[in-house]
Amino acid sequence: MDLKSLIRDIQDFPKPGILFRDITTLLRDPDGLRYTIDFLAQKCFESEIQPDCIVGMESRGFIFGAPLAYKLGCGFIPVRKRGKLPAAVHSIDYQLEYGTDSLEVHQDALNPGSKVLIVDDLIATGGTASATAKLVQTIGCELVGFGFIIELRELQGRQYLPDVPIISLVEY
Ligand code: PRP
Ligand code: HPA
Repeated sequence: MDLKSLIRDIQDFPKPGILFRDITTLLRDPDGLRYTIDFLAQKCFESEIQPDCIVGMESRGFIFGAPLAYKLGCGFIPVRKRGKLPAAVHSIDYQLEYGTDSLEVHQDALNPGSKVLIVDDLIATGGTASATAKLVQTIGCELVGFGFIIELRELQGRQYLPDVPIISLVEY
């Protein structure tokens, strides 16, 4: 299936000069959605990635991470932006285009030694994924890979990620 044909390009969003890759058109397509999750699961299998849990980042990482966890038979752990999680959290600051924000995970969500696959819809600069990797590694988890639907290659985000398998289904 041609996933690219289901991803819509929006010029000048969120700011002039940015070409935004919009996955909502992929999500609304029943065959496209099923194929995306199945393809991601197949790539994990081929890369021999067998996580104990999937960590997905707010908000679009939730959309793909949770069904992938269902498919792989493991649990899903949300990483959220500052102040959203109700129980005690581990936090990490990360760089945004202007200023910084924090990503948080519940302290009791992950156990040291757990094998973690990090899933998000898209890697651009790699800031979100690399901060999430540091967060799970600080807890003592074993990072076993990353899974993205979209990789924006020219931003070279993958160079900031640890040396584990990186799956991406569509490249621009
Ligand atoms: C987008 C995207 C990734 C991140 C990628 O999320 O879903 O999480 O940016 O960019 P990076 O590789 O440069 O860090 P965003 O922060 O816009 O949040 P959202 O999913 O809540 O819209
Ligand atoms: N699409 C969606 N999310 C993004 C993009 C994009 O092109 N760039 C950074 N986050």
